[in-house]
Amino acid sequence: MTELKLAQQMPHCMGLPIIGDTLELMATQGWTLTKQYERCGSVFKLRILGKNYAVLVGPEANRLILQDKADYVSSYLGLQPFMEHIFGRPMMLQDGDTHSQTRRLMAPAFHGKAIASYFEIMQQVIEDSLKRWATQDVIFLKASFNQLALRIGIRLLLGVQPEDQIEQVENWYNTLVNGVSALLRVNLPFTKYGRSQTARRQLKAFLQGIIEERQRQGKLNTSYDVLSLFLASVDELGNALSTSQVIDELIHLINAAHFTTATALTWAMVELAARPELRMRLQEELVEVTLDEPLNVGHLKYLNYMTYFLKEIERFYNPSGVVLLRGVVKEINYAGYRIPPGWTIMVAQGLTHFLPEIYKDPRCFDPERFAPPREEDKKVPFSLVGFGGGEHACIGMEFAKMEMKIFLATLLQCYDWTVTPDYSMLAGVAVPPSVEQQLQTRITRRRSAKLD
Ligand code: HEM
Repeated sequence: MTELKLAQQMPHCMGLPIIGDTLELMATQGWTLTKQYERCGSVFKLRILGKNYAVLVGPEANRLILQDKADYVSSYLGLQPFMEHIFGRPMMLQDGDTHSQTRRLMAPAFHGKAIASYFEIMQQVIEDSLKRWATQDVIFLKASFNQLALRIGIRLLLGVQPEDQIEQVENWYNTLVNGVSALLRVNLPFTKYGRSQTARRQLKAFLQGIIEERQRQGKLNTSYDVLSLFLASVDELGNALSTSQVIDELIHLINAAHFTTATALTWAMVELAARPELRMRLQEELVEVTLDEPLNVGHLKYLNYMTYFLKEIERFYNPSGVVLLRGVVKEINYAGYRIPPGWTIMVAQGLTHFLPEIYKDPRCFDPERFAPPREEDKKVPFSLVGFGGGEHACIGMEFAKMEMKIFLATLLQCYDWTVTPDYSMLAGVAVPPSVEQQLQTRITRRRSAKLD
């Protein structure tokens, strides 16, 4: 048997100056790890602000950490430094039995009948947004999608419908997440972090009020939004979510639901604007499936080509970022190394998506790779992990996919658009987050569009 080496002996892959690499890594949501990977291979270590990180790349590592050895690692230890001060302790920051119980209680809001019941509100927010965007000269893509996905979240997750309250929640929410990037966590009224903490208190008090009102009315099962399904959820042992847990989950859900979906849709519009043949293929599929009738929830599962397209967006643009973080609680042996408790593992999901042994010409944007007979993601498990995998896999995946399909279907059926900067400046961009905020679009309603 070959002797295992200490994790300290892994190739060390920070360049100089160390602080420069660290800041770059944080600012690019891990995208610049590609550089370290090219230098050091599929297992290497980083030392960031005094902490040891082991970066593991590939489907085997994804499966080991996210599924097979999930009880050797802790999401809480991996994520707490970045998230707990803003989001409290939602399911994503829980481990073991506590996590399983919370997830069981939240699951009914994200499956089958419940998801289907969200269709109408999603469609309405999407149609309203597209109509409004088409009246404007140009709009910034990412900011507009952030707002669209946030609105869908506020209406469907929190169940807030009056326009003035939606705007109020949007404001609190934006102020709250601003606090994530505060370099100094000084909780004073005039600091970014202090304002964020005030917004958190206001948001919590607002949600507490809604929950109390719903409980007073006793009509928990009648309205279809995520909040009411959380309040009505009881497991076989009689456990329910506490009010404070529901509030932490809702505040985190709005975050998990909106920036990821917004990133995916931003790049979907960029890719489609540059590829008339792909647009046409998707438009033809829409006609075949809907028979030119208005889109309904039943159509979505037959939009196969759109599914391949969205998988390619997931692979290519990694909307949730490039790495998943886990703190080690029991020693893990991987690729000949012993990774001890106290280290943090970066599961580099985004780098897996560019491995040539899995994806042919990985730098080429090609939805066909997911269609039969190629199905490149199906040959080795845990090859496509943009929605994570194992116990913490994204609970909102169906929600996100429905939202993205409704958006794309409505856009393709009724609108034309252009994107600037031109695709020739964007193709193959190594760090998508670095250009996302600059992308602009001009949308026009097609004269022949039936919508209204
Ligand atoms: C394109 C859209 C989305 C992407 C790419 C995405 C990606 C991910 C990923 C990679 C994880 C795993 C995190 C980890 O293992 O540490 C995750 C978890 C999660 N996502 Fe999503 N997500 C998306 C949309 C959504 C939406 C729409 C919702 C809710 C409506 C949502 C709610 C969550 C929650 C609550 C978790 C934590 C699950 C757990 O810890 O058990 N996500 N997501």
